[in-house]
Amino acid sequence: MVCPATKLAGKDMISTQEWTKEGLDTVLAIADRLKEMWACGHMPQILDRKTLFMMFYNSSLRTRNSFEVGMTQLGGHAQFLDSSTSYTPIDALESAPGRERVKDTAQVLDRYGEGLAIRVFGKPVNMVYGAGNQMIRNFAKYCSIPVLDMDCDMYHPHQALCDLMTLREKFGPHNLKGKKFVMSWATAPSPWKPLAVAHSNIELMTRYDMDVTVAYPKEFPLDERILKNAKENAEECGRTFEIVHDMDEAFEGADVVYPKGWTSINHLPTLKDPTKKPDEEKIMSLLKKYEVEKSWTCNADRMKKTNNAYYMHCLPADVRDGWEVTPEVIDGPRSIVIDEAENRLHVQKGVLAAVLGGRV
Ligand code: CP
Repeated sequence: MVCPATKLAGKDMISTQEWTKEGLDTVLAIADRLKEMWACGHMPQILDRKTLFMMFYNSSLRTRNSFEVGMTQLGGHAQFLDSSTSYTPIDALESAPGRERVKDTAQVLDRYGEGLAIRVFGKPVNMVYGAGNQMIRNFAKYCSIPVLDMDCDMYHPHQALCDLMTLREKFGPHNLKGKKFVMSWATAPSPWKPLAVAHSNIELMTRYDMDVTVAYPKEFPLDERILKNAKENAEECGRTFEIVHDMDEAFEGADVVYPKGWTSINHLPTLKDPTKKPDEEKIMSLLKKYEVEKSWTCNADRMKKTNNAYYMHCLPADVRDGWEVTPEVIDGPRSIVIDEAENRLHVQKGVLAAVLGGRV
């Protein structure tokens, strides 16, 4: 089931798609084991005196604190870097007034610590879709230490891994086969939510034997490249991957629903067209339309269409009738959002042990 831990030492975690199934299984096995140990008060000091730098260009509650606590529990240290107080690295090879080159920042941190984790999307990269992911890959290019994606405009791999860990706990690790997992768009008051959680989840769940349905209004598509990967993953597993444009249809018979807002890449600049202006007005008018219609809100009536599904969300959630979810669903008996949040800690300890520790 697991692969040689030496193969994971020093490996970046930017997307799970770039990892072998064997490698992911190893991380999940380590995470399960460390969680069991933690539950009885044992925290092996396998990252003794090692440092993880955590560079945040955006806000965070769960990601920052779970990585920080995880490093402490494993005997190491997590160093928080607010990008604005460390010369805000920007372009790989050029600097700007008050801003440092990514190349130099990466090489310097590489001399001090054992890992570098980064969160960057949206305004810090001028709303250009893909530019956050590109920046993380530029850091990785100039670092020999592992680089971890803590949420960019394309991927949130640690969120998807904790979601998978949580589902393995709820259904049993060998009972995911054929479960209907629904990743759905939902209305949110903010126009700029990244697509990362949806992308990472559909790429990962299609590799773990689930039948995955993704639902979104036509104005809020996912990245074609990610949809293609998800389709191919499902085919390889002999399972299904379906795209629908109606939340009610998606919820029919679902075992898991994950309704979450994301922005419209149709109205954002991209790496191919970085000078295009983001169309906030257009996105807001669509969000308002769907808020009034309540056609993309996870409510109790829609949950009745499911197979008594678990309700998932990465948090923070937009809780209001007309937004992502109503209070009765997120606070209801099938909501597993706090278990997911806890598993951020455990699954990231699994990743950290494997890539910073090397041999466990
Ligand atoms: N789910 C998640 O990434 O939460 P934060 O934005 O609080 O880190």
